[in-house]
Amino acid sequence: MISIIVAVAENNVIGKDNNLIWHLPKDLKHFKETTTGHYVIQGRKTFESCGKPLPNRTNVIITRDKNYKAEGCIVVHSLQEALDFAKNESEIFIIGGGNIYKQALPIADRIYLTKVHHVFDGDTFFPEINMNEWIEKSRHDFEPDEKNKYPFSILILDKMK
Ligand SMILES: NC(=O)c1ccc[n+]([C@@H]2O[C@H](COP(=O)([O-])OP(=O)(O)OC[C@H]3O[C@@H](n4cnc5c(N)ncnc54)[C@H](OP(=O)(O)O)[C@@H]3O)[C@@H](O)[C@H]2O)c1
Repeated sequence: MISIIVAVAENNVIGKDNNLIWHLPKDLKHFKETTTGHYVIQGRKTFESCGKPLPNRTNVIITRDKNYKAEGCIVVHSLQEALDFAKNESEIFIIGGGNIYKQALPIADRIYLTKVHHVFDGDTFFPEINMNEWIEKSRHDFEPDEKNKYPFSILILDKMK
């Protein structure tokens, strides 16, 4: 199964200046719990915005740069090559960013979608999801609190067969 995991603002913004915009510890906990132990496939820019591999996960970085090195990571040169590396896994995670999500959305089976109920200024977007193609499998709503400034919802969408 190919799964996308992403946090998206109401206006589809996912990032600005090669960084995340909001800080929602509850959503980060969900990201960590969902992806730990799995392959996490990411674009070179997303990797560099984190600066290091995510612990307890197999980090796969996609770049066109044949000389690119990232300690503790697998470096590949296409999305397909990344998927081939992880082909024996039961579930693999596409963790961004915008460029990689755009390529992965047509072939994804599942989206772990965090909807942040706020409009943000940004420069990187998640592609439009055609809800005729997806079934909402679950949804949990979270109210803001002192550590999580914005309301958000965590949805699981499965591709209609
Ligand atoms: N809100 C969220 O859930 C979330 C999650 C992740 C990231 N983000 C945000 O998204 C932004 C980064 O996204 P982005 O779209 O700018 O970059 P990105 O998707 O992370 O990385 C793009 C890079 O990936 C490589 N690449 C893409 N397609 C390729 C292909 N087919 N073959 C080989 N290499 C390929 C290229 O690297 P080279 O240039 O090295 O060739 C390209 O420049 C940041 O702001 C980040 O914070 C948000």
